[in-house]
Amino acid sequence: MDRWRTIIEPFRIHSVEPVRMTTVDERETALRAAGWNLFNLHADDVLVDLLTDSGTGAMSRDQWAAVQHGDESYAGSPSWFAFLESVQVLFPYRHVIPTHQGRAAEKILFSVIGGPGKTIPNNTHFDTTRANVEFTGAEAVDLVIAEGRDPAALHPFKGNMDIEALDRLLAERAGSVPVVFVTITNNSGGGQPVSLENLRAVRAVCDRHGVPLFLDACRFAENAWFIKTREPGQADRSVPDIVREIASLADGMTMSAKKDGLANIGGWLALNDDDLARRCRDLLILTEGFPTYGGLAGRDLEAIAQGLREVVENDYLRYRIRSTAYLGEALDAAGVPVVKPFGGHAIYLDARALLSHIRPLEYPGQALAVALYREGGIRGCEIGTVMFGRHPDGSETPAAMDLVRLAIPRRTYTQSHVDYVIEVVRWVAERAASLRGFRIVDQPPALRHFTARFEPLD
Ligand code: F0G
Repeated sequence: MDRWRTIIEPFRIHSVEPVRMTTVDERETALRAAGWNLFNLHADDVLVDLLTDSGTGAMSRDQWAAVQHGDESYAGSPSWFAFLESVQVLFPYRHVIPTHQGRAAEKILFSVIGGPGKTIPNNTHFDTTRANVEFTGAEAVDLVIAEGRDPAALHPFKGNMDIEALDRLLAERAGSVPVVFVTITNNSGGGQPVSLENLRAVRAVCDRHGVPLFLDACRFAENAWFIKTREPGQADRSVPDIVREIASLADGMTMSAKKDGLANIGGWLALNDDDLARRCRDLLILTEGFPTYGGLAGRDLEAIAQGLREVVENDYLRYRIRSTAYLGEALDAAGVPVVKPFGGHAIYLDARALLSHIRPLEYPGQALAVALYREGGIRGCEIGTVMFGRHPDGSETPAAMDLVRLAIPRRTYTQSHVDYVIEVVRWVAERAASLRGFRIVDQPPALRHFTARFEPLD
């Protein structure tokens, strides 16, 4: 298994999508029209799209076959039961509530349990999670361990929750904390995993204070693979077995099937509490749909049911984690500052370190992301002060880090695409001193990174 160094994709290509070649001049024009916001680009002007690993993966032959089995009955579709069984094999919660994607599950849950005066701790809230918490008037608090805030610190489980900080917070305000969340893997902190040991300790603290624990489980399979390969005593366990133990430590979960569901759309909210489930289903019917399809077509439920079987396979996960690390290792060897250890779904470039001449409030992550697109047609995503720097009261402070995330869609790009990315990032990094910052000329009150418009500074 480890005899050869070359990563071999555990699939061959069955159907291809063309990518369109563009010139620097064409991309410069596209950038101007987009207000220098990469979310505003036409995707066919992008050569290698590493904006997100969400919904952008390739489905397998067996998933496309499952799509043909989609049954679109309004109530009680066989596709619903296939979905339910696949979810509960891994996450045996009593109630499973299908939603069109992860944030719909968040919106429903926090609408029921959030509100002014409430506090939701998490290792690190993802942007939509934070926004959904704050939208209800509640406070979102990030309590990841100190290593998790330091891009250069080496720690096998940098997504771990700071147990003492959580204990202190719950001692002070347990009555106003309706739930503790743990995000696996910790996306905003660099795609870093959480250990079983840490999850057990979080569970113990929650039990002591009588607060339920939920998982934001988008990348649960990648997290389980890190546990299998990094946590003492876990090497011989199967991934599904590890996932079930993770599930058993929590009272519920939110999920985006666009990540480790290997699907293009979908998600769910799952939980054990009957009364909370009833209140969530009441909202589901208002906003998403009947409880046996939620926000999804029968065919989507089938694709997810099959995706959940494929995502926990060893060959897939070994390839997935190795091929992400391949990108990180090459950039690290070339002296490009990257978050380490390498995350599961993405490599994060440390733009603040690379562009130390650009102040955080002039958005070094934005400057780097724009340069990668301009020079090589590569679309990454700023995860820094643009995404997190603005507060509900309108004030602005630097985010903890200024990163550019190169997220790897699942089973989509080959090693030669990645070699091209390495070449472009190195070229840009060698000329980092010539990059300039940006200012924002237009922005919405929340989640500004999606729609803000920028202007380059002189
Ligand atoms: N939680 C985490 C940790 C996520 O990474 C995401 C989405 C969500 C919740 C929301 O799920 O998109 O299905 O509504 N992350 C994507 C990303 C968008 O690019 O990282 P969703």
